[in-house]
Amino acid sequence: MNDLDQLVSAALAEFTAAPTPAELENAKARFMGKSGRVTELLKGLAALSHDEKKTRGAEINQTKQRIEAALAARRQAMAAEQLEAQLRAEALDVSLPGRQRGVGGLHPVSRTIERIESIFGSMGFDVAEGPEIETDWMSFTALNNPENHPARSMQDTFYVDMKDEQGQWLNLRPHTSPMQVRYARAHAARYASELATGQPMPEIRVIAPGRTYRVDSDATHSPMFHQCEGLWIGENVSFKDLKVVFTDFCRKFFESDELQLRFRPSFFPFTEPSAEIDIAFASGPLKGQWLEVAGSGQVHPNVVRNYGLDPERHIGFAFGMGPDRLTMLRYGVNDLRLFFDGDLRFLQQFR
Ligand code: PHE
Repeated sequence: MNDLDQLVSAALAEFTAAPTPAELENAKARFMGKSGRVTELLKGLAALSHDEKKTRGAEINQTKQRIEAALAARRQAMAAEQLEAQLRAEALDVSLPGRQRGVGGLHPVSRTIERIESIFGSMGFDVAEGPEIETDWMSFTALNNPENHPARSMQDTFYVDMKDEQGQWLNLRPHTSPMQVRYARAHAARYASELATGQPMPEIRVIAPGRTYRVDSDATHSPMFHQCEGLWIGENVSFKDLKVVFTDFCRKFFESDELQLRFRPSFFPFTEPSAEIDIAFASGPLKGQWLEVAGSGQVHPNVVRNYGLDPERHIGFAFGMGPDRLTMLRYGVNDLRLFFDGDLRFLQQFR
């Protein structure tokens, strides 16, 4: 191996040993730089004769080309290594299962409320919503609960430690009955001129579903629960209409024409007469058992007055039912708390 071959192997060894691009460039300088080993050889040519210069010069040039080729090869290898490392570092595991979009579903109680709305909607009832934080007047006084009357404590109301602009104490509504008053008053205001001139006013026919609150908690009571109020007021609306409408509703809701209903005398300050409505299934595990599903009655004249209407002319009925209870009966759920625990294993069964 002559000196030039040795030089090429030395360069190759140094290039291969260079761990980084910067070290490679340093190694290159040691051979090709201003005072590099190849450059020194070329400088040495000056001392040679014309002929010697020719052959030696050609040999040195060849050597230079071989070193340059080795350098280029090493540079390329380094770039390839770097790319490889980067690809490895940024690799995606394509075998991971993708994130799927879950199939959502309506909460069973929401389903029930939609069902109630659609059945009453088909009977010409409007759907209204109202505030969950109510005034004392709306929750009690307007509904014929005299102040300080013991009937107020029938409902273990949550009071809000705050008064409204009129200085009235606020509460979390213990029932949806304030919506009777809100809706009927708005209706009476809309038809004020008809009412003033004795012309007929369109009937009030509305349901008002929503959340209600009482200090109550066990397997069949939750401090937050749902109610759906119903109100039908006209010039000739009677208890018989309540029976027809509610029977029709229950039979449609439970999809059974054999379902029995019972109107059991009861008491509410805002209705007179009043009745609890019980149902009994004609088949299934609860067959023949009377189950309470709603409170109801003919609206008390004092309440009709608070609607802004004349009780001598406008009469009708109201009812309040529990969509949570209806949902439990419809799906055979025995603990109300399951509806509000947010446990997907339970909720997914209703998708
Ligand atoms: N508001 C009553 C309750 O919460 C139910 C009801 C509504 C009764 C309308 C009669 C008329 O128990």
